[in-house]
Amino acid sequence: MMLETVISRRSLLRGVLLSSLAGVAGYVVARNSVLGKPKALSTGANGYGPATSAGRYLVPVGEVPPKGGLILAADKVVLVREHNGVLKAFSAICTHQGCTVDSIANGVITCPCHGSEYSAVNGSVIRGPAPRPLPPIAIVVRDNDVYTV
Ligand code: FES
Repeated sequence: MMLETVISRRSLLRGVLLSSLAGVAGYVVARNSVLGKPKALSTGANGYGPATSAGRYLVPVGEVPPKGGLILAADKVVLVREHNGVLKAFSAICTHQGCTVDSIANGVITCPCHGSEYSAVNGSVIRGPAPRPLPPIAIVVRDNDVYTV
């Protein structure tokens, strides 16, 4: 009878040990697999190039004024064309209390609610009360149309 108890404890111990080893092995495999790694953030998120997935259509490229910008209120996106012609996009949602920014002029994006101003170059806060920059939005140009990525 005592022998059965010892064997049961050994079996239990072996089972726990095997389960632990399987868990560690699974963790190591998942950690080293491609699926376990975060997607690299694209530094060219606002650049041109082929889309890797179907994004949301925004506007034709030609609608974004040269050296200016366009606010797509319905899409909550600000499109900016830099002096070199490169397009960038930012969220149009003010980081203060969530109003939609409504104007872009002379390199400044303005929120109508409390007057926050953001840089059209990089979305940074020029004048508060906005506490944070407008987040960038990844876009791609495909067949002369702008899409979110
Ligand atoms: S919500 Fe934009 S400044 Fe307050």
